[in-house]
Amino acid sequence: MGLNIVSKKGQTPIEDDDREYLKIKGLSNLEELNFYEHENIAKARHWLLKKKKFKAEEVISEKFILEIHKKMFADVWLWAGEFREREMNIGSSVINIRMDLRNLIDDFKYWLDNKTFSQEEMIVRFKHRLVKIHPFRNGNGRHSRLIAEVLCEKVFSLAPFSWGDVENDDGAREKYLQALCLADSGDYREILGLVRRV
Ligand SMILES: Nc1ncnc2c1ncn2[C@@H]1O[C@H](COP(=O)(O)OP(=O)(O)O)[C@@H](O)[C@H]1O
Ligand SMILES: [Mg+2]
Repeated sequence: MGLNIVSKKGQTPIEDDDREYLKIKGLSNLEELNFYEHENIAKARHWLLKKKKFKAEEVISEKFILEIHKKMFADVWLWAGEFREREMNIGSSVINIRMDLRNLIDDFKYWLDNKTFSQEEMIVRFKHRLVKIHPFRNGNGRHSRLIAEVLCEKVFSLAPFSWGDVENDDGAREKYLQALCLADSGDYREILGLVRRV
């Protein structure tokens, strides 16, 4: 039985050969897959909720980045918490993923030490570069937003970000993707405007 999955714009297509990585057998459509992923992510959020505070260095570490992805997707996907091993048309080449992540982590530490940007901008820049590296086979968008959320609320005690309803509302998703595209060229104003609460 095929999954018959249609991807929304800006989402990684789920291809036929992804099915072998599904832990839950017998899924027949995208709604079912969404449901199980959603449940898994709710569990990850619940785990985070019980945590009081994190140090910035902890959250941006390779270990935590992998751990959160694992907590979000391990009930559903075999590749949860593992760097991708397949080239994609977005993101770093497989061979560069760890090094690009290392550079991003070092940049964040530098920004932190030197107060290069506001806390808000540091988080937005980290989130954007993380999703641009695209470390995982799937879930990079949701993962990078959750990491940003943790930095926002559990590290810097800032008011929560609002990306808009990017998972359900096509208009909001379009705005968010356009803002990420602008950030690709170094212009973070749009994405900063998007998350800033008014
Ligand atoms: N031009 C871009 N620059 C940076 N990130 C992008 C761009 N286009 C898409 N993305 C990110 O990639 C995400 C989709 O990756 P994917 O691994 O499928 O995540 P998810 O499954 O959580 O949606 C989008 O939500 C967006 O955050
Ligand atoms: Mg996806």
